[in-house]
Amino acid sequence: MSDSKSNSNKGSTTGWGAPAVSDRNSLTVGPDGPLLLHDVHFLEQMAHFNREKVPERQPHAKGAGAFGVFETTEDVSAYTKAALFQPGAKTDMLARFSTVAGESGSPDTWRDVRGFSLKFYTSEGNYDLVGNNTPIFFVRDPMKFPHFIRSQKRLPDSGLRDNHMQWDFWTLNPETAHQVTYLMGERGLPRTWRHMNGYGSHTYMWVNAKGERFWVKYHFHTNQGMEFFTNDEAKNMAGLDADYHRRDLFEAIAKGDHPSWTLSVQIMPYADAKTYRFNPFDLTKTWPHADYPLIKVGTMTLNHNPDNFFAEIEQAAFSPGNVVPGIGLSPDKMLLGRAFAYNDAQRNRIGTNFHQLPVNRPRIPLNTYMFDGQMAYEHSAGQPVYAPNSEGRPWSDQTGRVDDGWEIDGEMVRAAYTLRPDDDDFSQPGTLVREVFNDAQRDSLVETVAGALLGGVRSPVLERAFDYWKSIDADVGRRIEEKVRSGKAPEPPAGMSEA
Ligand code: HEM
Repeated sequence: MSDSKSNSNKGSTTGWGAPAVSDRNSLTVGPDGPLLLHDVHFLEQMAHFNREKVPERQPHAKGAGAFGVFETTEDVSAYTKAALFQPGAKTDMLARFSTVAGESGSPDTWRDVRGFSLKFYTSEGNYDLVGNNTPIFFVRDPMKFPHFIRSQKRLPDSGLRDNHMQWDFWTLNPETAHQVTYLMGERGLPRTWRHMNGYGSHTYMWVNAKGERFWVKYHFHTNQGMEFFTNDEAKNMAGLDADYHRRDLFEAIAKGDHPSWTLSVQIMPYADAKTYRFNPFDLTKTWPHADYPLIKVGTMTLNHNPDNFFAEIEQAAFSPGNVVPGIGLSPDKMLLGRAFAYNDAQRNRIGTNFHQLPVNRPRIPLNTYMFDGQMAYEHSAGQPVYAPNSEGRPWSDQTGRVDDGWEIDGEMVRAAYTLRPDDDDFSQPGTLVREVFNDAQRDSLVETVAGALLGGVRSPVLERAFDYWKSIDADVGRRIEEKVRSGKAPEPPAGMSEA
């Protein structure tokens, strides 16, 4: 128990601290008689048990995490004034890793993108970076996100996962090609969370002390080296130990084997974004390192397991909208959509005052005008509850141009981003398949995709999938089609069996 004051009671207590009468026998009329309504301790046990769970996260339900520290080892103060990225700064942090589509008890090793969520408890407030183990994403308009997630989850009638539905969504949205190529490649099956990279994925803004703005992409490279499972290894592990990734992280940290990642960033000068050959805010694109090389920032080390999974991991609340001075958002429509979604999900999932829980609470004094509501704990005592006020309670009053803003003008429309010369859906995944994957990785990609397509994908989605892959790479597409038509592909990869 966390209460340090001693309690003379030797057994358990009620929620209000009095000795609990019994944790073994309910109160009855005689040993065989009916239960009595005034057995308050029994009723409290039952009622609390009924409320013991919070809803799981809509996506990214299965995960785990650990605490650690981020140390800025280099000088990137020319690009950001954020306190956590000043030379020598050490910032306590929390990381949570997850799968996307599976529910909270689903196997860790089903093929999926992995979440990579970070919360930095900085001296200027909490900064959250909520990314994935891939540098890009499936869609580029937030309107599509709920549809995308539903297509990866379960059929409404049978409640089964369904390859057909997944490929239907992907092939009707060719912008998914880059992320689907990553997903069907090695990145879809990391060996452990310790052996995967993490990315901010979006383009963010950095602002330096002079008020100069830059566009930035974050890359966390694992210092353990990248390692992956094969389809068979992942499938076997899903049966042997559904919690394999959760166990691996917990056990490694418990025995002092602290995993670490090196953070590097790509920096794009503010003005470049206007004229770059493709839209640098499009979340389905990476920035070539030849144009924007990696600049090292520091090291993140996870060194401390949670004391309580529910309190510190299940109730952890991350949001890409939680930024601190020196860091801003960008015109990436997905990022702007996400800036709303997370805090709202957490008000529903955990409660109105989720930010007051120890794992979410900033480690600095607060002066917030958000108050009361269910389970309110922090408060401002008798201070004015309104601003401005004459009682001396500080309030904020920033006016005019904002530090981390950008210029914008135009008609209100519902439309895709304006196309630039190199804005297309298939060039980057094509380069990934031809120039980054080696022969063995290409062979395995063909096997994995063919296996998934044979796992219940029907016409006309099947033919669309062949065209989709031929648009990514003519040869890979032809080989996938041949394999599927021959019916000789392996079983569908783990987590993608036929509905
Ligand atoms: C418009 C697009 C998106 C929406 C509306 C959205 C919405 C959500 C919601 C509602 C949650 C659950 C939050 C909670 O209950 O605490 C979540 C979790 C998550 N999302 Fe997204 N998401 C979007 C795109 C993305 C993208 C692009 C990435 C990565 C680049 C991402 C990474 C994650 C991660 C890692 C989590 C788990 C957070 C945790 O560990 O607690 N999401 N998302």
